[in-house]
Amino acid sequence: MVNLDFKRHRRLRSSEAMRSIVRENHLRIEDLIYPLFVIEGENIRQEVPSMPGVYQVSLDLLHDEIKEIEQLGIQAIILFGVPHDKDETGTGAYSDEGIVQQATRLIKKSFPKLLVIADTCLCEYTSHGHCGVIHHHDVDNDASLNLLAETAVSQAKAGADIIAPSNMMDGFVTVIRQALDDAGFEHIPIMSYAVKYASSFYGPFRDAADSTPEFGDRKTYQMDPANRREAFREAQSDIEEGADFLIIKPALSYLDIVREVRNKYDVPIVAYNVSGEYSMVKAAALNGWIDEKNLVMEKLISMKRAGADLLITYHAKDVAKWLLEG
Ligand code: PBG
Repeated sequence: MVNLDFKRHRRLRSSEAMRSIVRENHLRIEDLIYPLFVIEGENIRQEVPSMPGVYQVSLDLLHDEIKEIEQLGIQAIILFGVPHDKDETGTGAYSDEGIVQQATRLIKKSFPKLLVIADTCLCEYTSHGHCGVIHHHDVDNDASLNLLAETAVSQAKAGADIIAPSNMMDGFVTVIRQALDDAGFEHIPIMSYAVKYASSFYGPFRDAADSTPEFGDRKTYQMDPANRREAFREAQSDIEEGADFLIIKPALSYLDIVREVRNKYDVPIVAYNVSGEYSMVKAAALNGWIDEKNLVMEKLISMKRAGADLLITYHAKDVAKWLLEG
């Protein structure tokens, strides 16, 4: 046989064992963060119509839900509240009796080892559905910051392990860090939604959390999908202000941003595989058009390959089951 002048890449793909010893990235159960919607009321376990397999769960039914999550080996959940009443200033977000505060206390009492991440935002609690208080038909940055800081402190008081501010007001990491420190929570990390685009991929979430803005959109505070350099300005300021983790959101259409933020910063990077990304896959799977398991595993490993350390994903329970099955 003559020694031809080309490379034989296929040598390293010849069997499952061969492929597995040269595999560069891995998805672990510990990488997964499961988002959970807690709803005010009783005896509710209601499937979100646009997110098959995802439920709004009331406090009295929470125990079984969390038990399942913990038994699967999932280490962290992120909580979103669906309150019964809403008002102009989103009081339910920072009330000590708010739905997320109640849920956090309940979960930490029975499952102390599970990490509870509190999404810190006002949009689920305001009557207008925006992420802050409204002045002259736009969200007032500085007036919203105080309420956000109050929300974070009340979540920490309830026992939240990580605070995840998502409202995209300038300075939120500074004021939340300060407020947490002042209240004796200097040990609680901030997982900042540093790079959050104004995305149509959030549509199903807004059904789940009942947080569609009543007027306008979120483009004066969330980022333009056309921008890349702006992501580094956002990440940079959050790092300087004290963020312990950076979230990039959405994930799939933004893997270039995940990679570049990974290359520039050393903090743990979190990719948020958002609701619309979940629903598209589910819809196709329910129609029998794709192989759900293989497709989900492929999209999640692509997020790890892009540089994410952690993945917030509605697929977490399914993925944990698949990983356990081997
Ligand atoms: C709250 C928040 C949103 C999401 C996470 N936190 C909604 C939004 O910004 O409109 C979206 C998550 C998803 O789509 O899965 N601000």
